[in-house]
Amino acid sequence: MIANQIANPYLPAPAQVLAIQPQTGVDYTFRLATDIEPAWGQFVEISLPGVGEAPISVSDAGPGYIELTIRRVGKVTTALHQLKPGDTVYLRGPYGSGFPRDEFAGHQLVVAAGGTGVAPVKGLINYYAGHPGELAGLNLLLGFKTPADILFRTDIERWQGLFPTILTVDQGQAGWLGKVGLVTEFVKEIPLKNDARIIVVGPPLMIKFTVAEFIKCQIKPEQIWVSLERRMHCGLGKCGHCKINDVYVCLEGPVFNYSRARDLVD
Ligand SMILES: Cc1cc2nc3c(=O)[nH]c(=O)nc-3n(C[C@H](O)[C@H](O)[C@H](O)COP(=O)(O)OP(=O)(O)OC[C@H]3O[C@@H](n4cnc5c(N)ncnc54)[C@H](O)[C@@H]3O)c2cc1C
Ligand code: FES
Repeated sequence: MIANQIANPYLPAPAQVLAIQPQTGVDYTFRLATDIEPAWGQFVEISLPGVGEAPISVSDAGPGYIELTIRRVGKVTTALHQLKPGDTVYLRGPYGSGFPRDEFAGHQLVVAAGGTGVAPVKGLINYYAGHPGELAGLNLLLGFKTPADILFRTDIERWQGLFPTILTVDQGQAGWLGKVGLVTEFVKEIPLKNDARIIVVGPPLMIKFTVAEFIKCQIKPEQIWVSLERRMHCGLGKCGHCKINDVYVCLEGPVFNYSRARDLVD
């Protein structure tokens, strides 16, 4: 009887797909019915029976639902992209550390995000859109490969009206009138306060070189937070897949202060 009452942390709970919104040809946002209440920056494990499981950052959440923005890259993500509203997926979590809002309160916050790296910060940016008084300003620096790769267009249009926002693409296309260039090239255009707090999320090389640009602008590693998407399996500190040196990224991360993460980045 007692054994039946011990919750199994590996046991996923069913969640109905409420809506699926394609963002690009390969990135879809899934709205899932669940009581999970994540902190911004945390991730869940999403699975399909007989297919497998994948760790995915929560890109937004509200009463009774979370949203996951999933790029189709392999077995699990391809199967997820074939689902329809009304279908069932399985979730466990949330796992990992979120972004430390207490550390940002009262400071200028700069969010530099590239590609699918915008997913783990989308909910946080939307939170500050509703609570602008918590910060001494929010600057956004968002980069995508091409205009066709831009995620969250509706949100970005709204953010452009609320916060100083630099939106750039690595390669322009016919009809693109916006900025062209890597995120790293635009860091120096942001008017940074000495005590600014910085979030950098994106592919490993983008994180490395973007952080280096902020450090050139006299920002200290302690003022920077990154999210490391290390390969993960259990998400619970048991299997060791995510381990770098003695650190379990699934437990201590994926959000790290850079003073800690600089020793972990491969
Ligand atoms: C904390 C965390 C948060 C994540 N958040 C998101 C998210 O919000 N949206 C999203 O689309 N993806 C996210 N990912 C990546 C996602 O987990 C992988 O893309 C997914 O597990 C691939 O599963 P698959 O079975 O479809 O691919 P597989 O069939 O396992 O692999 C397909 C290809 O993807 C590569 N791959 C697999 N896993 C990873 C990984 N973790 N990192 C880099 N390459 C990988 C493989 O080497 C292979 O080339 C996140 C990963 C972590 C660890
Ligand atoms: S994913 Fe298993 S220990 Fe971190």
